[in-house]
Amino acid sequence: MEERTIKATATSDLRPTPVPPILLNAFDRVLLRLLLRFCNSRSRKTETEIDAERPVAEVDSRNLNKLMARFGDGLNIEGLRVLDAGCGAGDLAISMALAGAEVVGVDIDGKRITRAREKAQQAGAADRATFVHKSLLDYEPDRLFDRIVSVEAFEHIPEPERFLPKMRDLLAPGGEILSVFGPLWLSPYGPHQYGFTRFPWVHLVFPERVVLAARRMTFRPTDAATRYEDIRGGLNRMTVERFKRAVHAAGLRFERLAYNPQLSNAPAKLASGALTALPGAQPGIRRNARPPCANG
Ligand SMILES: C[S@@+](CC[C@H](N)C(=O)[O-])C[C@H]1O[C@@H](n2cnc3c(N)ncnc32)[C@H](O)[C@@H]1O
Repeated sequence: MEERTIKATATSDLRPTPVPPILLNAFDRVLLRLLLRFCNSRSRKTETEIDAERPVAEVDSRNLNKLMARFGDGLNIEGLRVLDAGCGAGDLAISMALAGAEVVGVDIDGKRITRAREKAQQAGAADRATFVHKSLLDYEPDRLFDRIVSVEAFEHIPEPERFLPKMRDLLAPGGEILSVFGPLWLSPYGPHQYGFTRFPWVHLVFPERVVLAARRMTFRPTDAATRYEDIRGGLNRMTVERFKRAVHAAGLRFERLAYNPQLSNAPAKLASGALTALPGAQPGIRRNARPPCANG
């Protein structure tokens, strides 16, 4: 029998999609070469590779533990109706449901909501942790919430000044918002650059286009962003002062506001306390704001 052969080439689905280059002038290119000396490519991945990563099967309870450590009694959520605004892949919402709350997670990212629903099912919590794929701004529930939690979202969402009034409107009388987020914009890691460089305040030293060019070369080769706002996940350049203004403008009042509570060793705490006490320097030096706010 006549032999038949086939020649084939297979291409990976993980091929990077070409993105238009960031235009740099000669001086920018010198700056880029300098910045690249402080960068590493250890976490370089395309967006497709990130999406293809298998979701972690277990529910990660670290965010619940973090909130517990920060707010203690405020997280006495058994029997309460809780909203997780910007819930991501649902770990916190599911952990709270397993702790006895009735939780709704809302997120604008459909892939994360699908993952959250799968995890809730796997964890046997799908009846107490439900998920809505929507912008919080468009969410109209049947009933109000006793607590709203928001973790690592306030420096990402594009319209924080609209988010806070919306949260206020979703709170039942006497309800509370508990929020943890950072790093903030004017802090050493404001652009969340730790994936490719440990250069502190890199965004204040180098122009945006140079930092984003370095980010593309060493960290996210297929993220076409030319502004911090447009990187995947987005950064809204949130500062402490902006957040405080938005909280007050929404008619909310702070019951507790803590900066850098994650610092555990005494010298770092002392340094943070001293630096954050400097008049005028506060918004730049505070690394994170960890503010819970109560319905006023
Ligand atoms: C950095 S992630 C944090 C996710 C999760 N809270 C966690 O800690 O793992 C920020 C989340 O906010 C979501 N988000 C941004 N804008 C939103 C909006 N308008 N409504 C709802 N979710 C939003 C994003 O899709 C993203 O999942």
